Amino acid sequence: MLSLADKLAPEVVKNLIPYQSARRIGGNGHIWLNANELEESELYGESEGYNRYPDFLPQVIEQAYLDYSSHFTPSGNPLSCQSRAVRGADEGIDLLIRTFCEPGKDRIIVCPPTYAMYEFCADAFALKTIKVPLIEGFGLDLDGIKENLPHSKMLFLCSPNNPTGNVIPHSHIIQLLEAAKETTLIVVDEAYIEFAPHTTVAELIASYPNLIVIRTLSKAFGLASARIGFILADRSVMTYLSRLIAPYPIPDPSARIAEKALADSGIAAMRNQTEALVSVRDWFADEVALLPFVEAVYPSATNFVLIRFNTDDCLYRYLLEHGIVTRNQAHEPQLKRCVRISVGTQASMQETLNALKAFKAASPQNAA
Ligand SMILES: Cc1ncc(COP(=O)(O)O)c(C=O)c1O
Repeated sequence: MLSLADKLAPEVVKNLIPYQSARRIGGNGHIWLNANELEESELYGESEGYNRYPDFLPQVIEQAYLDYSSHFTPSGNPLSCQSRAVRGADEGIDLLIRTFCEPGKDRIIVCPPTYAMYEFCADAFALKTIKVPLIEGFGLDLDGIKENLPHSKMLFLCSPNNPTGNVIPHSHIIQLLEAAKETTLIVVDEAYIEFAPHTTVAELIASYPNLIVIRTLSKAFGLASARIGFILADRSVMTYLSRLIAPYPIPDPSARIAEKALADSGIAAMRNQTEALVSVRDWFADEVALLPFVEAVYPSATNFVLIRFNTDDCLYRYLLEHGIVTRNQAHEPQLKRCVRISVGTQASMQETLNALKAFKAASPQNAA
């Protein structure tokens, strides 16, 4: 029987034979002269050389990531899906779009305010982006999305959502998966999942092969510069992704650090640092909420807080003048006078709080 992925994959992708890199072709020799590598190379001060190409699929870390993810499913059952390592969740988004969409023809749905890369990758691939904005309380407009599913190839959701910080309820995602069964792939970006692990929907892939989950080691694991992300999906989806994936998706130094991070001791360390971050986040959010010129500090299931001021602007420039770089969100129609502040160390957050406390809301120089 044809899967939804079979139905949606463009002909050109169906006919594509994956690039046959030297590592993919493999072999059994003891002298390797097949990839135009340097057999012996300068070490440039490192203890190990980087002269050989890495694996064409880093199966050790893909399996390690699946094992790790199987430990925090809501039911406690292991995941029944596949995992593919990519160079950060951003590459995952791009790869999914390039695999299943046809330039100049297909549409995707996004629900702003959300992570901007979905729309950016769609624009770069000449796709039409249908925007179904979040409703009051940053919830999904389920009817608005459902209306658009039949003529859209992919729906991008983000949970917990960047920049609003909230989680999409499972029941809403299940409703959409049901409605999209025959028509649309639903991608749930769980970049911040370690800050609300029980809310993952990865387990639903077993019942809904139209669900794809994107993850990253950039956030809770603190490995943003290693550029490691993962796609969790049904085999029917992976078949097509694997045709387009870069010949050597993960550099060896990154694979090595990922392997250590995904070992038991690495996961335990990540959990400790997540717990510490959450307590700094909650303290900072509570303190900021007490300031007279703060309208709202939105609940966060992430490593950032979204703040709305009742001043003329979002204090982004004011904080910048104090050497504190945050993310201005005021350009989003629903996020007027909002700034997003990543949670750093206790010392950084104390300094940020001190700067905010020193703000004189009435001072004309701080008007918009
Ligand atoms: C929701 C979301 N998805 C993906 C990413 C990108 O992650 P990566 O560093 O793995 O590319 C980010 C980064 O901010 C993000 O907020």
